[in-house]
Amino acid sequence: MNLEQEMMMLISAGVPLVNLVSYEEDRVLRKLAEIGEREKLGLASWDMADGFQILRQGKTALPVKDVTSDTLLKHLSEKMPGAQILVLKDFHQVWNGPKKALVTRKLRNMVPQLRAEARFVWVTSPVREVPVELKDDVVVLEVPLPTVEDFDALFQEVTGKLERRVLPSPEVREKILRSALGLTTTQARLAFSMVWAAYGRFDERAIELVTRKKREVIQESGALEFWPESEGESSVGGLGLLKAWLKKLECAFSAKARAKDLPFPRGVALIGIPGTGKSLTAKMLSGLWKLPLLRLDMGAVFGSLLGASEANIRLATHLADTVSPCILWIDEMEKAFAGSAAGSLHAGAATRVLGTFLTWMQEHKSPVFVLATANDVAALPPELMGRFDRWYFLDLPDEAERRAIFKIHLERAGEIFPEKRFRLAELVDKSTGFVGREIERVVREAQFTAFADNEREIATEDLLGALGEVVPISQSHSEAIQELRKWKTDGRAFPASSEPKQDPGRGRVIDV
Ligand SMILES: Nc1ncnc2c1ncn2[C@@H]1O[C@H](COP(=O)(O)OP(=O)(O)OP(=O)(O)O)[C@@H](O)[C@H]1O
Ligand SMILES: [Mg+2]
Repeated sequence: MNLEQEMMMLISAGVPLVNLVSYEEDRVLRKLAEIGEREKLGLASWDMADGFQILRQGKTALPVKDVTSDTLLKHLSEKMPGAQILVLKDFHQVWNGPKKALVTRKLRNMVPQLRAEARFVWVTSPVREVPVELKDDVVVLEVPLPTVEDFDALFQEVTGKLERRVLPSPEVREKILRSALGLTTTQARLAFSMVWAAYGRFDERAIELVTRKKREVIQESGALEFWPESEGESSVGGLGLLKAWLKKLECAFSAKARAKDLPFPRGVALIGIPGTGKSLTAKMLSGLWKLPLLRLDMGAVFGSLLGASEANIRLATHLADTVSPCILWIDEMEKAFAGSAAGSLHAGAATRVLGTFLTWMQEHKSPVFVLATANDVAALPPELMGRFDRWYFLDLPDEAERRAIFKIHLERAGEIFPEKRFRLAELVDKSTGFVGREIERVVREAQFTAFADNEREIATEDLLGALGEVVPISQSHSEAIQELRKWKTDGRAFPASSEPKQDPGRGRVIDV
């Protein structure tokens, strides 16, 4: 059912109170005007700033007075004629405002009368915020962003008077419309007008410009961020099993796999010891698969606006759908989802966000691959377990991995052949129990030491000295790490690296 059909259904069913959740007031009002025209219903709007506006005169005129939010409902219950739709803009601020008790009670009292006389009160609001008192009486309609068909009509409207030769071929037109998915009508109209102003015609350049506009919108949406492609595969040392699995999955996004209806992978969760390359793997994956990386900022999802978090996550997943194929990266997901545990301060909001996210994970049909990372797995709700194709555990790097990580960071520090310049075997030996982040820090420290000492080159001794000064997290938090490791040992998560011959962090060091 499209939006108009859904709206029409609510009118036909005689639903007296509706909450339309949308950022697109104009679009919604236009649709209501069309319905009013067809069904011979009057249409008016009211808002706190400008009071009443008559949009379509009904059979009996609505007596409009200067009424405030305090007197509005009384005025309506006495004066609003039948066969009339009244749109109350941003009325969520009133029914959740200081007079909430009075307003919600009055609305409930009005319901039978409204229903009997075909009077429809539609509240528009950007977020879903129906007070519990009205849950049974108000039907909530979440207005989805425009579809390709909506954009088709809009494009026709914008370009209808133009000469044929400046219009796109059907294929390009289709691509332009698709690239606008995720924009509101107003934003898309602006993007189309910008194309016209910039190029004086609609060709392939339009796709690029509209896509750029969408990037901006995504950036501004708050919760999602386009992450530039930053790390190549060679910047991740070790993690061989995880890398191999990710490489295997790449073909699932190919046109061939799609043609065969191969199910595409839903996502992977990376857990494990801090500083072992979880976030790094996310950054690498976008380069490996050549797909855009969208980072979901959970802090921004739980904005300060009460009730907005659910709408935020909905918008974010929707935008990811429209950008797909893409990777949706949720860093440190425990921070977002752990709060859904009963008793926590934001339990209500966190539970709804988790619910919305889980449903989307289950049902979305678009090729969006979710890469989530977590440290504190104990805090994760169990419902999350089954939603990822695999869970991987990133352990302390073994000898071969530490050697690779040393090489990566020494090369980054400008050393061309680190294995020739440094006694790597000794460094690998002395760094038992160190994670990638700590090795990176050791290299940086050695760089400073050497630079401060007459800007000379780094020597193995500088690195050994720096190693001696760091207490690795595997020592300072050894118990917590043993606890985490159980995820791997009891088989809940796959090991990201092949098993070392010796237990990393404990065994005798074998150089490889
Ligand atoms: N396997 C690795 N290969 C190369 N560098 C690594 C590796 N692991 C960690 N590093 C270095 O350490 C830095 C921090 O790693 P990263 O942010 O990926 O850790 P994390 O596992 O996400 O940690 P946290 O759990 O604290 O978020 C990386 O930017 C990188 O420079
Ligand atoms: Mg991280």
